[in-house]
Amino acid sequence: MSKLRVNAFSVSVDGFGAGTDQSLNQPLGRGGEQLHQWFIPTHTFQREVQRRDGGTTGIDNDFAARSFENLGAWIMGRNMFGPVRGPWPDYEWKGWWGANPPYHVPVFVLTHHPRPPLEMEGGTVFHFVTEGIEAALDQARAAAQSKDVRIGGGAATIRQYLQAGLLDEMHLAMSPILLGNGEPLFEGIDLPALGYSVKEQVSTGAAMHLVVVRR
Ligand SMILES: NC(=O)c1ccc[n+]([C@@H]2O[C@H](COP(=O)([O-])OP(=O)(O)OC[C@H]3O[C@@H](n4cnc5c(N)ncnc54)[C@H](OP(=O)(O)O)[C@@H]3O)[C@@H](O)[C@H]2O)c1
Repeated sequence: MSKLRVNAFSVSVDGFGAGTDQSLNQPLGRGGEQLHQWFIPTHTFQREVQRRDGGTTGIDNDFAARSFENLGAWIMGRNMFGPVRGPWPDYEWKGWWGANPPYHVPVFVLTHHPRPPLEMEGGTVFHFVTEGIEAALDQARAAAQSKDVRIGGGAATIRQYLQAGLLDEMHLAMSPILLGNGEPLFEGIDLPALGYSVKEQVSTGAAMHLVVVRR
């Protein structure tokens, strides 16, 4: 059965999915680039995102590889899509990922600011959804057919799907860093009360991998 999943979401020990002051020069906010230190060296990141050979194998790569399996659509927040805030001044911004983003399926971007669909190379089409999380999920499930839908982030988007009880499974990579401030993943969320528990846990030198599932 099709699942709604979060995978490879990096979080600091103090629970932030990005630092403060996101910008063109600091996509993950202040100090946030350290969050992905477990992910960037992996063979999967190098192949899927950088289009390079090489990279590490092992536990971090196994989780990275799982994150790309059986996906039929993605959902992300507008802040993950890019640094533009407020009404779109134009449609020049096309995401962080270049002409051929590493999605290759429809991607539904939550925003309050309408914009026409954006077709990229390699099968990625960004659709901008202004009707909220349930509309985005309906559209993503229809596009994904029997495959899973992945929520890429950021924290503000994941929190809404958690609170609505819609998320089936969440792989978090807890990076051994403290950010102090930024986008909190768990603020205002009582995961046990929502029916979630930790199903899997394994640590490497770079991260503690946790798989949290809804009963
Ligand atoms: N740690 C990780 O693994 C990871 C993964 C992905 C991204 N990130 C980082 O996380 C940061 C972004 O996360 P974030 O928590 O700041 O924001 P986000 O979840 O990416 O986006 C939030 C924005 O999306 C729009 N939005 C969200 N829900 C909506 C709704 N229900 N209806 C309409 N619009 C809605 C709103 O934008 P508007 O009102 O402006 O339209 C809102 O301000 C970036 O720095 C990114 O690089 C980290």
